[in-house]
Amino acid sequence: MSAFHPAVVGLARCVCQVDRPFLCAYLSGMAKLPIITLPDPLLRTQSAPIERVDDEVRQLADSMLETMYAAPGIGLAAIQVAVPRRLVVLDVSDKDEPRNPLVMINPEIVSLGDTLAPYEEGCLSIPDVLVDIDRPSTVRVRYVDRYGKSQELDAAGLLATAIQHEVDHLDGRLIIDFLSRLKRDIVVRRFKKQLRSAKI
Ligand code: NI
Repeated sequence: MSAFHPAVVGLARCVCQVDRPFLCAYLSGMAKLPIITLPDPLLRTQSAPIERVDDEVRQLADSMLETMYAAPGIGLAAIQVAVPRRLVVLDVSDKDEPRNPLVMINPEIVSLGDTLAPYEEGCLSIPDVLVDIDRPSTVRVRYVDRYGKSQELDAAGLLATAIQHEVDHLDGRLIIDFLSRLKRDIVVRRFKKQLRSAKI
């Protein structure tokens, strides 16, 4: 992609391209990043694997965690801060519990349980929209951690749902894809209209 993405340019206050995302994150330091929202076409991008886990990746993960906690949310994929790389952060701990941040680089779903569990899911890129989604209630995920070490995790309940939701983002899939086409079009139209009125 050759075009400058406004969110990326904005956060780094420098002229840098979306294919140099880690430099942008590095220059901006650990900071809250702008979250892109519907109908930004970047949300439909297939994110590319991260080949090397270095300080720039770790800084991006830390900035994403800060952004997620501030939102507040329980999960965030790099594409939601306009960085098309396979990186997600999660924390499903309760408010009164200590924080339990998880950084997953190149996460891959290894297996899914047979039982489905319903959750009403929201998404920081689709504010004020909740979708009832049935997903497998358990999941095994393989990923690389912030130190470059390969890990496998068995997750259940809310964490299992959040992992599937975030991995979907890396493949350009959104919660509105679980709606009927009619309902999905209504949501998309609403966000396009909001964008138009915000520009006036
Ligand atoms: Ni989301």
